[in-house]
Amino acid sequence: MDIIKEWTDELRYRPYHQWDEHYQQVLIENVRNSQWQLNYHIQPESGLLNDPNGFSYYNGKWHLFYQAYPMGAVHGIKSWYQLTSENLVDWQPEGLALLPDASYDSHGVYSGSAIVVDDKLVLAYTGNVRDQQWQRQSYQMLAYMNQEGEITKAEKPFIPAPPTGYTHEFRDPQVFIYEEKYWVLIGAQREKLEGTVLAYVGESLDTLEFKGELAFTDQSMGFMVECPNLVFIDDTPVLLFCPQGLDPKISPYQNIYPNSYITADNFDSEKLALTNPSQLQNLDEGFDVYATQAFNAPDGRALAVSWVGLPEIEYPSDQESWAHCLSIIKELTVKNGQLYQTPVAEQADLRQEQQDLAGTLTQQPTALLDETDNSYEIMLELSADSQGKLHLFADQELNHSLVIDFDVKNGMIKVDRSNAGLPFAQEYGTTRSFSIEKHQALNLQIFVDHSVCEIFINDGQKVVTARVFPQEGENGLFLEGASGTYSGNCWRLRKMIND
Ligand code: FRU
Repeated sequence: MDIIKEWTDELRYRPYHQWDEHYQQVLIENVRNSQWQLNYHIQPESGLLNDPNGFSYYNGKWHLFYQAYPMGAVHGIKSWYQLTSENLVDWQPEGLALLPDASYDSHGVYSGSAIVVDDKLVLAYTGNVRDQQWQRQSYQMLAYMNQEGEITKAEKPFIPAPPTGYTHEFRDPQVFIYEEKYWVLIGAQREKLEGTVLAYVGESLDTLEFKGELAFTDQSMGFMVECPNLVFIDDTPVLLFCPQGLDPKISPYQNIYPNSYITADNFDSEKLALTNPSQLQNLDEGFDVYATQAFNAPDGRALAVSWVGLPEIEYPSDQESWAHCLSIIKELTVKNGQLYQTPVAEQADLRQEQQDLAGTLTQQPTALLDETDNSYEIMLELSADSQGKLHLFADQELNHSLVIDFDVKNGMIKVDRSNAGLPFAQEYGTTRSFSIEKHQALNLQIFVDHSVCEIFINDGQKVVTARVFPQEGENGLFLEGASGTYSGNCWRLRKMIND
């Protein structure tokens, strides 16, 4: 059976049941032969994955859904795919949970969130519909999951249309409870084609009222805001969101669209305002993070997960019938008004054999690990005077590698993907540079998994996420430098249990 290479709208929006029943199986076989499959990150079994959705804790388990198009590595007609976990690292696939099979979501079950109400998990999503003229209609919908895991969609939208003055670019409802009221934030576009976030409030999800725009900045947020997400970290409100078409002068970024955040002193629920908001910042300094979703877990932690991928970009694995993955689960904290992201504590469950690392940086590159299968975690402390390069996904000659170029003396880091694996997305630049604390030891905690790498810098003050598509033999880990010393640990990481 031939795999589709040329995609038309007709093919992308063809209902799944109209595909040959063996078609997806052919894709799945293709993916199983992919050298870039991931060991401990969530990836699609075939086709495309994008935003995380409905991250929640319900009925004794963690639930996580993602935007899925199973028939190819393209943005086709979307569903929610479900996974569950008991420990936030081993994720069991539960299959497609919300299909685009109703009149209010006929062209895609788009992104949204989940909240426990009474004994049910309520899923809030956007029903995407295209009319005869291919004009978009957006409906905000609910579905209810019971303790047996059965999901029932509500028949009618809970928010049937955007308010006057806004277009149908109106999606990604985040539902949360604040001061005992239900709040829904929705990514929106003014008729003047400007991005914004709208707020609805009510005693229940059936009695919501439109309150207005969330005030979080005086600056222009581009032409659309996707995936708004407000979390409270020890009372500090943190708004995560994805402004499309943002002027980089407002907040510099290199990716096609940034995943931004602001922190604030307070959330003024009367004024719908984040009080004294910070400047917009990039949530991730790397190449591939978007649509991060966070929620306040019952144990008090603010947990986040990102789509590792970006809209409108082709990736090398597209050729192998799959695209993208989710990040590991990250815990968000705030220290001195600054956001920190760290791997969730449970991530340590993956650790296998451990190796100590220590030495002096030399011009001659040192292999920190002889053989890696590109599935490891490394924690490295570099002295305050150190200057050098760490090479991940490296071949023996260091012609190919992802380079972390650190100059701790001058407080700079550059991550260079120019010669890492197969080239892609080069039009958005192949390096990312940013400043770090000067004159203090640098610590790096790095997770490498076959074709993705997540780098946590200085206890999570900065994070760099990058897809890398290594070729045969590009699995080395080398350190070189002009000055300084290093110490740390490395662990081989096991595969997540997912069957
Ligand atoms: C963000 C996004 C959302 C939308 C979903 C569709 O990546 O465009 O705004 O709901 O993806 O898959």
